[in-house]
Order: sequence, then C-alpha cells, then structure tokens
Amino acid sequence: MPIAITPATLGDAAALADISAIAFPLGCPPGTAAANLHAYIGAELNPERFRQHLADPSRLLLVARASGSVVGFLMLSQSVAPAEVDGIHPIELQRLYVLPPFHGTGTAGALVNRALAIAQAMQRDTIWLSVSQQNPCGLAFYAKQGFHQVGQQQFPVGQDLHDDFIYARPVVAVPALSH
Ligand SMILES: CC(C)(COP(=O)(O)OP(=O)(O)OC[C@H]1O[C@@H](n2cnc3c(N)ncnc32)[C@H](O)[C@@H]1OP(=O)(O)O)[C@@H](O)C(=O)NCCC(=O)NCCS
Repeated sequence: MPIAITPATLGDAAALADISAIAFPLGCPPGTAAANLHAYIGAELNPERFRQHLADPSRLLLVARASGSVVGFLMLSQSVAPAEVDGIHPIELQRLYVLPPFHGTGTAGALVNRALAIAQAMQRDTIWLSVSQQNPCGLAFYAKQGFHQVGQQQFPVGQDLHDDFIYARPVVAVPALSH
C-alpha cells in the first residue's frame, strides 16, 4: 500500500492523539503501570496538546498516510539538547509512532528520511532522541537508521521514571572512508 509523507495539519490533531494512545505504550518498559501510561497520555498526547504543537514554530510534525488515513507520525523539536549530544545546531526527534499494522513496512524509515532532509534544509547538524532502554524494537530501528548511543537520561511517565538512552547521529551521514 503506497505511503504518502506530508506535513501534518490542524485537522490531524485527533488522529495523532489516537495513534499515540496505541503506540506510546509499546515503546515503554513491559509492566509499566496502566495508571502511569494513562496519566502521561492524558497530559502529553491529547488532541489539544497536538494542536499546540502544530501551531508552535519550533516544532514540525510529519504524517504518513495510507489510503488517506494517518498511520504514523514524527515530530521534530528545536528543544535544548542534553550535554552529551555533539553538534552546534542539534534538533530533537521527539516523537515517532507508527500503527502496528504498518510496523516492518518501511513507514517509520520513510518518516525518518523525510525528517533528515528537512533537518538538513534547516542546517541542523545533529539529530538526537530519547528511547527507552527496554524498547528493543525502537533500539533496533534507530540503530538501523544510523543512530548510536551518546548518553542516558530518565524520562518521567506518570509517577514512574523510565531509564532511556540518548541516541544521536549526524543529520548528513558521513560516508565511510574507502581505503
Ligand atoms: C519504533 C517504530 C517506529 C519502528 O518502526 P518499525 O516499522 O517497527 O521498524 P522496522 O521494522 O523497520 O525496524 C524494527 C527492527 O526492530 C526489530 N525488532 C522488533 N521487535 C524486536 C524485539 N522485540 N527485539 C529485538 N528486535 C526487534 C525488527 O526485527 C526490526 O529489525 P530488522 O529490520 O533488522 O528486522 C515502531 O515499532 C513503533 O511505532 N513502535 C511503538 C512506538 C515507539 O517505540 N516509538 C519510538 C519511541 S522513541
């Protein structure tokens, strides 16, 4: 099924919240308390929050559509990077959520490729993210996309503090030197 990657619009806010409610828990450590997931999703991943993000010039949201329906999205944020992140002009890949039926289809990779092209056009040099240390699928995916671990931090989810890795990569991959 062809996937189209486009900038998100205000009309997508509800779909972004729906996808987040399904995908966010999949990226959390197994056994995360439902109350903590519920608290985080309710506070950070609701339609109003996405309307704020869509109106915020320091963020950029991309959606992946299949037959016109949103099946995944990615959010870039010009947030302050942790000290472990190299680069003069870093940018954060703050959210990447794809609906399970589209896992393994290249949809996530297509969103990341578009985000890298946009980050390059914005003259950003490093892209970084925070991923749970207990998210094997996310860790494997980001490693495949050229990210590597540069540090670790804690990520609050409700009353919980999750142990994350900080992953980063150059926006423009440096070709390996041929001997
Ligand atoms: C993370 C996410 C965007 C990746 O997209 P995807 O389409 O699943 O990614 P891919 O299938 O291309 O890559 C996933 C890799 O992880 C591997 N993988 C999946 N589950 C795994 C597991 N439990 N243990 C080890 N490896 C696993 C897959 O085999 C694949 O590697 P391969 O291509 O070498 O086979 C998607 O899984 C998702 O939305 N997850 C829920 C939300 C989330 O975790 N977002 C990231 C938070 S930082």
